[in-house]
Amino acid sequence: MRALVMDGFGSADQAKLGELPKPQALPDDLLVRVTAASVNPVDWKEMAGYLAQVYGEYGTWAPGFDACGIVEEVGANVSGFAKGDRVVLLADRREGPQSGTLAEFVRVPARLAAKAPAQASDAEVAAIPTAGITGYQGLFRPDVGTLKAGESVLILGASGGIGSFSVGYAHAAGARVAAAARDVNLDYVRSLGADLAIDYKNEDVAAALKKWAPGGVDHLLDAGTGGNQPGILDMIRDGGRLVIVATYVNDADIEKLTAEGSKRGIAVHYLILDLATLRQDLEATATLIDQGKMKLPELTVYPLDRGAEALAAQQKGGVRGKLVVTID
Ligand SMILES: NC(=O)c1ccc[n+]([C@@H]2O[C@H](COP(=O)([O-])OP(=O)(O)OC[C@H]3O[C@@H](n4cnc5c(N)ncnc54)[C@H](OP(=O)(O)O)[C@@H]3O)[C@@H](O)[C@H]2O)c1
Repeated sequence: MRALVMDGFGSADQAKLGELPKPQALPDDLLVRVTAASVNPVDWKEMAGYLAQVYGEYGTWAPGFDACGIVEEVGANVSGFAKGDRVVLLADRREGPQSGTLAEFVRVPARLAAKAPAQASDAEVAAIPTAGITGYQGLFRPDVGTLKAGESVLILGASGGIGSFSVGYAHAAGARVAAAARDVNLDYVRSLGADLAIDYKNEDVAAALKKWAPGGVDHLLDAGTGGNQPGILDMIRDGGRLVIVATYVNDADIEKLTAEGSKRGIAVHYLILDLATLRQDLEATATLIDQGKMKLPELTVYPLDRGAEALAAQQKGGVRGKLVVTID
């Protein structure tokens, strides 16, 4: 099958269009013909070798975790899916990293897939799993503290992948939403549902927020700074919640923040995407989309033979919304 192939590790622009063996579905799996795959920061981190300790040997392999596709084969132990279903999925790496989503076919355990929302295009669907569900869990996971209607939330990194979805989710939940982004992205985050858009490069974020939420916000989701935003705890009300998305390359001293937060009753969570609830979170997202409650991120779409450009653009940074690779 055609795939975007890496030989071992390297920079994102080193992925080349090539061939890999078509994966085989195991009894708990779906084999899916990929129609679109999205790109995430984890892809260039994996390509650089950051996940080698977790997943072991990398030979010739295809990057990519997220996809939309059509079920081609259903494993013997799987129920609830049929050949021809349109699905959203997050590929795992159980048997090594070969089976990434930047390829014509991917094998995925059925528990990491859900029916795709009917009201979203394949590219929009492919954008959802890693960024969308991390944002969803950062706002609604019970152990994190569920954002409720009428509460206020600040989202850092609001124009990126996680941030774009998070603004959409928070707005759909009826929260008051403040979003920090660069000047060129302020209208964009407003279009996703932000009530207040703060220019984090040219404005004092804390001062702008203080006028809008004088006692601090109920919930702060940091998908932009790894907890390094100056005075991050001061922007949250006593008893509120700080959720820091783990970046693994640029994280603040979480223990110190947790200790300081606890003095004010602020619960600090270092967020790592939990695959245990992935399917139910994908289904909840699909429902919101099909009910027309949620604006989706802006997409930049590349064909597979230009997939390395998408990976390199993600590594460079400054992406608005999501980058998606379509496969025909
Ligand atoms: N732990 C997990 O389970 C998990 C899951 C998914 C993702 N992640 C990690 O979470 C991070 C974000 O992921 P993503 O997909 O949303 O990435 P992304 O699309 O690249 O978005 C990152 C955002 O951060 C913003 N940003 C950068 N520096 C900032 C600053 N100083 N202040 C405010 N915003 C800033 C960027 O804005 P500009 O465009 O203005 O630079 C961009 O909007 C990545 O490190 C990713 O690897 C972790």
